[in-house]
Amino acid sequence: MRTYLVTGGAGFIGSNYIHYMFRKYGDQIRIINVDKLTYAGNLENLKDVENRDNYTFIRADICDGDAIAKIFAENDIDRVVHFAAESHVDRSIYEPELFVKTNVLGTATMLNCAKKAWENPDGTFKEGKKFLHVSTDEVYGSLTEDPTTFFYETTPYAPHSPYSASKASSDLLVKAYMDTYKFPANITNCSNNYGPYQFPEKLIPLVINNALHGKELPVYGDGKNIRDWLFVEDHAKGIDMVQEQGRLFETYNIGGHNERQNIQIIKTILKTLKELLPDEDPRKKNISEDLITYVTDRKGHDRRYAIAPDKIKKEVGWYPETNFEDGIKKTVKWYLENQEWMDHCISGDYQKYYKDMYENR
Ligand code: NAD
Ligand code: DAU
Repeated sequence: MRTYLVTGGAGFIGSNYIHYMFRKYGDQIRIINVDKLTYAGNLENLKDVENRDNYTFIRADICDGDAIAKIFAENDIDRVVHFAAESHVDRSIYEPELFVKTNVLGTATMLNCAKKAWENPDGTFKEGKKFLHVSTDEVYGSLTEDPTTFFYETTPYAPHSPYSASKASSDLLVKAYMDTYKFPANITNCSNNYGPYQFPEKLIPLVINNALHGKELPVYGDGKNIRDWLFVEDHAKGIDMVQEQGRLFETYNIGGHNERQNIQIIKTILKTLKELLPDEDPRKKNISEDLITYVTDRKGHDRRYAIAPDKIKKEVGWYPETNFEDGIKKTVKWYLENQEWMDHCISGDYQKYYKDMYENR
C-alpha cells in the first residue's frame, strides 16, 4: 500500500485532492495530511474522510524540521504531495515575510526531510519514492492580451508579487535538489483553480458570498485582467497523473484553456445564481449587476495568465475534462448547498480581513 504525505491538505486544493484520491484509490492508499491550520486550513473540508482507517491528520508546521522529520521517521512515506503555502496574492502584498517563511523555508524543510529519509548511503534514493511540488503559473509573470501567447514550461521565470516570487523561489529549490542530488521530484505549475471549499478571499467564492448578501462586488482596476480557470478536480487528477505517469525531474504546466476576463466571471456568477436560486428564496432579489463596484487596482496586478498544457497532454494524457459552464454551475450549486460552511469561514477573523483589505479601496 502506497503512503502519501500531503501537506496543506486542509486547504482548498489539498482537500479536493484528498477527496479525489480516496474516490480513485479507496483503501489501496494511505494518506497522512500535515497542515498547520492557518486561517486557510479548515478541517470541515475533510469531514467526509476523517473516520477512514487509511487517513491521518497531523497538525504541524512545514517549517518545523523536527516535526516533519518525526513523521518521516515513523512512517514509510512513498509520495509527498506538497500543497502547503500562503496562497493569496493580496495578503502577500501586506505581509511578504510570512510568504518567504512558509513558501520558501517550508519547502526547504520538506525537501530536506524527504531527502534524509529517502537517501541511500551511496547518495542514490530508495526505489519508487517521489516528491511533487505544487506550484503556480504566476511564476512566469504576466502575458499581454495577445491571445496567441501562452506560458510554456520553458518560459523564463518573471514573478511580480511577493507571493509569486516566493513560489518561484520554492520551485528553484526543488530544481536545485533535482539537479544537485538527483532528488526524485516533479513540479506542476497550474493556473487559477475554482470549485468547492475555496476560501472566500479569492474572487469566485467572494463574489458568490457577497452577491448572496447583497454586498458590493469589488472589481480591481478595469476588470479586464484575464485568468485561465480550471476546475479543481481536474487539477487533482493532473497532479496524480503527473506523479504516476510523468517523467521524473520534469515540470508540467496544468491549465484549462479557459481564459476569461474577471468581469466576465462575475457576470457569469450572477447569471448562474439567478438560474439556480428558486424565486421564493429571499436572497434572489439581491442578485444584480448593480452590485458591481470598480475599486483601486491590486498593486502590480498581472494582466493575463494563460497556460499551454501541451506537454502534460502529450506525455501524460491529461486534459481539462470539465468545461467552464458545467464547472461554474457545480461550484455555485455547492456554495448554495453549503451555506453553513461559508458562514463558518466568514465568522471571526474574516470580518477584520475584509475591512482592512476593502474599506478604503
Ligand atoms: P489554501 O490557502 O487554500 O491552502 C493552503 C493550506 O496550507 C491551508 O490548509 C493552510 O493551513 C496550510 N498551510 C499554510 N501554511 C502552512 C505551514 N506553515 N505548515 C503547514 N501547513 C500550512 O491554498 P490553495 O489555493 O489550496 O493552494 C494550494 C497550493 O496550490 C499552493 O501551494 C498554491 O501556491 C498552489 N496553487 C494554487 C492555485 C489556486 O488557484 N488556488 C493555483 C495554482 C497553484
Ligand atoms: O494563477 C494561479 C493563482 O491563482 C494561484 O497561484 C493563487 O494561489 C491563487 O490565489 C490565484 O491567484 P489570483 O490572484 O489570480 O486569484 P484571486 O482570486 O485573488 O484573483 C483573481 C482575479 O480577480 C485577479 O485578477 C484579481 C481579481 N480580483 C480578486 C479579488 C479577490 C478582483 O477583481 N476583486 C477581488 O475582490
